[in-house]
Amino acid sequence: MTQSNAQLQQRKTQVIARGQGNVYPVYVEHAKNAELWDVEGKRYIDFGTGIAVCNTGHSHPKVVAAVKEQVDKFSHTCVMVNPYEIAVELAEKLVAIAPGDSAKKAIFVSTGAEAVENCVKIARAHTGRRGVIAFNGGFHGRTNLTMALTGKITPYKNLFGPFPSDIFHAPFPIETHDISVKASLKALDNLFKVDIAPTDVAAIIVEPVQGEGGFYAAPTEFLVALRNLCDQHGIVLIADEIQTGFGRTGKMFNFEYSGVEPDLITMAKGIAGGFPIAAVVGKSDIMDAPLPGGLGGTYGGSPVACAAALAVLDIIEEARKNFDERLDKINWEIYYKDLPFNPSALSLYKWAPIAEELKTLDRKIVLNSMILKWDVIKQEFNDLIQF
Ligand SMILES: Cc1ncc(COP(=O)(O)O)c(C=O)c1O
Repeated sequence: MTQSNAQLQQRKTQVIARGQGNVYPVYVEHAKNAELWDVEGKRYIDFGTGIAVCNTGHSHPKVVAAVKEQVDKFSHTCVMVNPYEIAVELAEKLVAIAPGDSAKKAIFVSTGAEAVENCVKIARAHTGRRGVIAFNGGFHGRTNLTMALTGKITPYKNLFGPFPSDIFHAPFPIETHDISVKASLKALDNLFKVDIAPTDVAAIIVEPVQGEGGFYAAPTEFLVALRNLCDQHGIVLIADEIQTGFGRTGKMFNFEYSGVEPDLITMAKGIAGGFPIAAVVGKSDIMDAPLPGGLGGTYGGSPVACAAALAVLDIIEEARKNFDERLDKINWEIYYKDLPFNPSALSLYKWAPIAEELKTLDRKIVLNSMILKWDVIKQEFNDLIQF
């Protein structure tokens, strides 16, 4: 052991500003699949997963191999200067797996916030309108525009104003907080009367399952109503699937559960097993609205991250082939609401749809016992938990 967790944390606070805080003072020495080991040799189940990123586990051998192979060839040319085949291949795959039948195109950027910003740029270029509507409790990033879209003050917005104009918020439907779908839609209608005409609205952005807002799934009825509203007024519907994408809630993208096809989709986090790449995928006519050179950036679509993403897609595709069979192995029902700890930001999130499916199979699992009996579960369901 070089230094203890406490010693490293002390060093960190001397040189890294408190704004970039860390949830746990557990310094990682190495990580593999669903587990990590700290510098003191302690072993953990990693429910953090780098904020919902490592959907295929830490250092999956296929991802590691793909990255090594790419680094041996070249690590950067900038896709906007000298492009490369793997970026085209990744775009082809993302366009194919995105929900809905419309012809689609993609762009690559580096972070989730950039993907959101680019959606707003594309929607504004397409519509020639200014307004963007987001929802209370929604999280869309930490840059100036995405902070403005985020519907949560502390710690994301306070101290950081002023924010860009023409951003509006409406209540997100959460039955347990007495906000019905009807009430949310009524509030939107009110917004159109009081703050901005629907003909001035470029986009509505929504997370199909709020993360920072407290893990609330948007009811299908609500997503369908948003689709209709957008169609009625020529508004671009943006699905922020940054946290819900790439199998995190069961299907490849959460919007698939509703059958609603968004106009633009943000993709990041789970896309490349931890390598920094993000994308916007959307309907071709909308995506092509900005002029050449108006989108992108130096590192967007890094070849190393593209290689990792292609490997991740292969792994998920493979895992999904016998997904039902693997689910069948589980004979308990998951009550994730009864967790002995705060489930927000934990990868238990990815168990939620499985829980739903298991309930329909009338099986019994108590997640508390999953945690307590981790060793047994890991043995029994190794291939379900670790891709
Ligand atoms: C739904 C959603 N949108 C946007 C973002 C911002 O992504 P990034 O942190 O990569 O900028 C996040 C990150 O947590 C997110 O969960």
